[in-house]
Order: sequence, then C-alpha cells, then structure tokens
Amino acid sequence: MNNKSIITGVNNYDVQLTKEEIERKAHRGKVGGFWEVLGQLQFDFMKAQGLKPGHKLLDIGCGCLRGGVKFIPYLNKGNYYGIDINESLLSAAEWEIKTANLESKTPNLLLNSGFDLGKFGVKFDYMISISVFTHLPSNIILRCLKRVAENLTQEGKYFSTFFISQKSLELNPLRHQPGDITTHFDQDPFHYSFEEVNDMASKCGLSAVLIGAWEHPRAQQMVMFEKKGC
Ligand SMILES: C[S@@+](CC[C@H](N)C(=O)[O-])C[C@H]1O[C@@H](n2cnc3c(N)ncnc32)[C@H](O)[C@@H]1O
Repeated sequence: MNNKSIITGVNNYDVQLTKEEIERKAHRGKVGGFWEVLGQLQFDFMKAQGLKPGHKLLDIGCGCLRGGVKFIPYLNKGNYYGIDINESLLSAAEWEIKTANLESKTPNLLLNSGFDLGKFGVKFDYMISISVFTHLPSNIILRCLKRVAENLTQEGKYFSTFFISQKSLELNPLRHQPGDITTHFDQDPFHYSFEEVNDMASKCGLSAVLIGAWEHPRAQQMVMFEKKGC
C-alpha cells in the first residue's frame, strides 16, 4: 500500500518495493541502475574533494546505498548518515549493508520526508545528493537547501547533481547527452539553469559553485554548496 507523500504525483519514489523485489536486487534498478559505476564514481569524486575517514558524511536521498556501500567501509565507524523518503529503499539499504558485512560500521539511516537533518543531532563535514534534485521541483529543493544550511559545519561542503539548462525559465524539454535523457521545466526529470540553482542557494544562506561535468553517464552536472562567507 502506498501512502500519499510530498512526492506523490511528482516522481515515482513513493512506490514501495516488496521484500521479494529487494531479494532479487530490483532496488538497484529503481535508483537508476549503473550500480557499480555510479557508486564508484561518487566515492572517487568525494575522496578527490577531500573526504577523509574521520569526516561525518550525510547522503541526502541515499536510497539503497549505491554510494553508501562504497562510503561506509572507508569512513570511520558511525560516520555515514543517510536519509530517504522511501521506506522500502531503506529496507533495501539494510539488505545491502548486511550482504556486504558492513553492520559493524554502524551506519545511521533515517526515514524522513522533510529533510529534517537536525534529527541526527550532529553537524556534517560533507553532504552529497546524487540523482535527487533531478527528480524534485524547486520548492522541495528549497526545503532541502534550508535544512542543509542549518546542519553543515562552518567549513562544510554539500555536493549535488542536477540536469542543467543554459537559460533560466527554460520551458521547452531538453535532451541531454550522454544518456539521451529528456528533462522538463515542471515535470520529472527536472532541469534548472545554474542561475536558478544559485538563486535557491542564496535564499537559504548558501553559495553555489558550478563544478559541471564529472563523468556522469547521464550528463548530470555537479554543484557545490557552502555556507555564505566561507
Ligand atoms: C535516483 S535515486 C538516487 C539514490 C542515491 N542517491 C543513489 O545515488 O543511488 C533518488 C532518491 O531520492 C530519494 N528522495 C526523493 N525525494 C526525497 C525527499 N523529499 N527526501 C529524501 N529522499 C528523497 C528517493 O527516495 C530515492 O532514493
């Protein structure tokens, strides 16, 4: 049974997987596939950005841990935090943790629909969202960025991917290469100009730096957010 949530009718992440689907690893496809490639890519990227085992990392929209299964062994015990709106993907995350023998690393997972990052009770050195803004309209991204600003350390950095449009208010669908994905102004998957992303960040007390292409197989671009004045 699927309960109505803020993403009902926006994208398909309110649909829950069954136990049988999780046991045959269907969750790996639900988060977009490229399980090994995109897990490794996000891990390598964050290490290159300075992620060290002693840092606290928050994975916003962690899903079933495509990145998490790479981050958890690297980070010190207890330093991986994941939050997601989809209960079954968090069950799949638990399945992945068990399958990879990572329970002793005590990752922290939270089911939450409002980006209530303060519930973890810690401040984060690094945060990451892979393929999350690509599925969200701007008001939900604004909620996320406001909570990010409240829960980053002073020097903390948040990396997120999005589909880029060259101009703001791009009402026409856009086709992105590589990957051949068509994005939309007001429909999943969404596109934004960097100016629109920067405006959202600014409203929430964050500055945004466009990193751009980072070898993502479906042409998602990377942006880095920091607290303003850092
Ligand atoms: C394409 S998946 C990516 C998952 C993960 N980042 C990865 O790289 O595999 C998008 C994820 O965002 C989650 N999500 C969507 N809206 C969310 C919200 N409002 N709060 C938390 N998670 C959300 C979905 O449930 C899903 O797990």
